[in-house]
Amino acid sequence: MKAIELKHPLIEHKLAILRDKHTGTKEFRELVSEIAMFLCYEAMKDAVLEQTEIETPICKMQTGKLDEDKYAFIPILRAGTGMLDGVIRVIPNAKIGHIGMYRDEKTFIPVNYYFKVPKDLEKREVIILDPMLATGGSGIDAIEALKAKGAKKIKFLSIIAAPEGIEKIEKAHPDVQIYCAHIDDHLNENKYIVPGLGDAGDRIFGTK
Ligand code: PRP
Ligand code: URA
Repeated sequence: MKAIELKHPLIEHKLAILRDKHTGTKEFRELVSEIAMFLCYEAMKDAVLEQTEIETPICKMQTGKLDEDKYAFIPILRAGTGMLDGVIRVIPNAKIGHIGMYRDEKTFIPVNYYFKVPKDLEKREVIILDPMLATGGSGIDAIEALKAKGAKKIKFLSIIAAPEGIEKIEKAHPDVQIYCAHIDDHLNENKYIVPGLGDAGDRIFGTK
C-alpha cells in the first residue's frame, strides 16, 4: 500500500511552526496532538459504520455509527504518547496499548523495553502512533510484535516520514497502511530526518 500523505495548506502551516527550532515545548505538544487528530481523521476514511436508527428532534432516521470498541491505539514510547491526546479526542472509546522502544544512538537499532497491549487484537483495527518514521526500524519491530499478538489490520500514523523508512516498512509489511503529515527529503548520517524537526521525544518532553 502506498503511504498516504496529508496534503493541505493548514497542515503545512502547522508543520512550519512545529519544525521551527524556536517553537517551545507547550506549542510543540499542542501541535503534535492537533496534527495527530487530522491524521486519525484521514485514517478513518475507510471506516465501516454500523447502520442504526436514531431520532432527531424532527424525525427518526437511519444513519451510520462507529463501533469505537473495535479500535486500539498503540503509541510507541516515548514520542508516540504525544499523539495520543489528539486521536483519543476523535475516538474516545478506543483501547490503548503501549510499546516501549528507543533507538540505540550508535547502531540506530531499536531496543525494546516495554510491551502491553489490549486483548483480542485480532478483532480490532490497530493504529500505531509515532511522530517520526526515520529508518523504519522501530516501526517494523512494533508491527512484528503486534502481528505476533494477533493483529490483522494495522495502520501506522506518523507526522514526518523519511522515504527510506517508508520503503522499508512497505517492503516488509505491504499490508500496513502508512499515513503521514509530510514525507521529507532524506536521512542524515545520524539517521535524523532532513529537514525534519529534530528529536521529537526531546521536544515533546523538554528533555534537551
Ligand atoms: C524516535 C521516534 C521513533 C524512532 C524512529 O524515538 O519517535 O520511535 O526514533 O526512528 P527509526 O524509524 O529509525 O526507528 P527515539 O528512539 O528517539 O525514542 P524516544 O521516543 O524515547 O525519544
Ligand atoms: N527520531 C527523531 O525523533 N527524529 C528523527 O529525525 C529521527 C528519529
